[in-house]
Amino acid sequence: MTLRLAINGYGRIGRCFLRALQESPFRERYRVVAINEPADLASIEYLTRFDSTHGRFPGVVETDGDALIIDGQRILVSHADTPEAVDWAAQGIDLVVECSGRYGTREELQRFLDAGCPRVLLSHPGTSAEDVDATVVYGINHEALTGAERIISNASCTTNAVVPVLDLLDRAYGVDQAMLTTIHSVMNDQPLIDGYHHTDLRRTRSAMQSIIPVATGLARGVERLLPRLTGRVQAKAIRVPTLNVSAIELAVTVHQPVSADAVNQLLADAAHRHHQSRLAYTEQVHASIDFNHDPHSAVIDGGQTRVCGAHLLSLLVWFDNEWGFASRMVDVLHHWHQCWPTANGLNSLQETPQ
Ligand SMILES: NC(=O)c1ccc[n+]([C@@H]2O[C@H](COP(=O)([O-])OP(=O)(O)OC[C@H]3O[C@@H](n4cnc5c(N)ncnc54)[C@H](OP(=O)(O)O)[C@@H]3O)[C@@H](O)[C@H]2O)c1
Repeated sequence: MTLRLAINGYGRIGRCFLRALQESPFRERYRVVAINEPADLASIEYLTRFDSTHGRFPGVVETDGDALIIDGQRILVSHADTPEAVDWAAQGIDLVVECSGRYGTREELQRFLDAGCPRVLLSHPGTSAEDVDATVVYGINHEALTGAERIISNASCTTNAVVPVLDLLDRAYGVDQAMLTTIHSVMNDQPLIDGYHHTDLRRTRSAMQSIIPVATGLARGVERLLPRLTGRVQAKAIRVPTLNVSAIELAVTVHQPVSADAVNQLLADAAHRHHQSRLAYTEQVHASIDFNHDPHSAVIDGGQTRVCGAHLLSLLVWFDNEWGFASRMVDVLHHWHQCWPTANGLNSLQETPQ
């Protein structure tokens, strides 16, 4: 049975999700049949075909009427600014992948369910843990999904990168305190040159000119996934003028004495032996661009591991904030779908109104 998906908000993550699905083994199993995005269809087609970060789309991209056509498959495109303005039920949508970032509270997300989308997979943490039925970091808690959930969050790209590493460190050595600094590529919520923003002074400054500290909910995001660390995590985030790929400088104090070699061995083993961790480990010399289009949640740069004394540890963790995250959305979608009850009125392509 092919699941029918919609993407709401076809920006960086929306387009990466569609493409990650296209490049995955699941492309016949989960099919995007609808996109809701304010932009016009010609621009949607163009930015699907050509991507400055990830290169040309690996397939044939065309348009026909109000549809985007990918390798001959129709995707109906709408331009509504509210969930209620799209007839999801008529399109037989099984799940909407919410990538606009505009809906964070349960009340806001419920609007998709009320408008005929049986389930929502969210591309950010939502306003709080209570606003979603589950927050999932693949490799950490995806197996806790029951299938009864209606709204789940794929957490944030940074949470997906750092939580698996912190979890390993805590299990091996006991994390006392953790300090995280995310060095993040620019995003579309920043202006190219200085411009007004109504609520956030940091988002008035040219993204291509400065290193810009920004607010982050990362510490609370980590605690949501690893509640045993509550009150012991702090985080900062800075945006830097690169298009994609980010890094986390992770400093932790641990209860058990550590050495750089032992920590690297632990992380390398996890990366090589436990495929579900979605981690990678390298000791080669790298710059961030080397990890563009890398599907891992995190790549540990073993050459940058430092230990001060025996209890203060510092790690450098790379991640493709777009592609790694979108690839996890595909993983989470697939796992979640395996948990769904079969008698749940799922729509097959054959059952769908034309
Ligand atoms: N980029 C990353 O690295 C990354 C990684 C992980 C998670 N995320 C999260 O994913 C979300 C999207 O981020 P992004 O980087 O993809 O942003 P983006 O490139 O700005 O894409 C968002 C798209 O949604 C559209 N949109 C706005 N309001 C809409 C509405 N009411 N209905 C449907 N579409 C609407 C926007 O159109 P307009 O531009 O016309 O407003 C835009 O095309 C954010 O919550 C972000 O935090 C981003």
